[in-house]
Amino acid sequence: MKSILDNRPGLAAEVGQVAEVAGYLWQKGWAERNGGNITVNITEHIDDEIRQMPAITEPRPIGAVLPNLKGCYFYCKGTNRRMRDLARWPMDNGSIIRITDDCAHYEIVADKPVAPTSELPSHLSVHNYLIGKGSPYKASVHTHPIELVALTHSPKYLEKDVATNLLWSMIPETKAFCPRGLGIIPYKMPSSVDLAEATIRELDDYDVVMWEKHGVFAVDTDVMAAFDQIDVLNKSCLIYIAARNMGFEPEGMTQEQMHEMTVAFNLPK
Ligand code: 13P
Ligand code: ZN
Repeated sequence: MKSILDNRPGLAAEVGQVAEVAGYLWQKGWAERNGGNITVNITEHIDDEIRQMPAITEPRPIGAVLPNLKGCYFYCKGTNRRMRDLARWPMDNGSIIRITDDCAHYEIVADKPVAPTSELPSHLSVHNYLIGKGSPYKASVHTHPIELVALTHSPKYLEKDVATNLLWSMIPETKAFCPRGLGIIPYKMPSSVDLAEATIRELDDYDVVMWEKHGVFAVDTDVMAAFDQIDVLNKSCLIYIAARNMGFEPEGMTQEQMHEMTVAFNLPK
């Protein structure tokens, strides 16, 4: 079957990377049923031919007006689609959308009319915010990592930077590769504009944020890098749990050792 990815190696590689990460999310047990979603700003790979292509759906409202997204294109996981299916067939379980000139609607341009994720308001609001601040970040990943979600069921870890400091202190790499830590967003209805707005506010200070009792939302330059930030945080959480299961509270790296890391890696805080 003909695909928009044919003879477009840059675009195909971008979508291929989403498929690869979708497979990891499933393997990790973070993507039950249709759990999680990914969007990537692929505008840099869009040529004139795609720009002229007629849409295959009518314009649908985003639910917000997002002025920085005018003329932008995104690959989006489809709503109710499984990550494990997307891993094998990314253009059957996701689609490419174009933002219309009023910046309030999107239309699907390829390959199939797969409706984008229900978390589109959060994803697109975040992309709008990232472009607005001149960020090089192009990808956003939402997933349900078991141990990190479990952490948010205790009020202690919902306090600002308590989880961040615990996770950073478990192994030096976590601070090095998730240097802005883990933001916390109190529980909000999935797919709501409220959740989208809270997410943008928290991304001012963090690259990865927790949606309380639901999942994480991470942004980075590409989908693999966004996945890596979640992966290192969840790894730290597993180390913490392993120590507790061995019957003791882990010591954690000292503030001094963490400060040493901050200086050596030239980290932000
Ligand atoms: P979608 O299937 O609509 O992407 O929703 C999955 C999800 O995790 C909602 O938070
Ligand atoms: Zn979710």
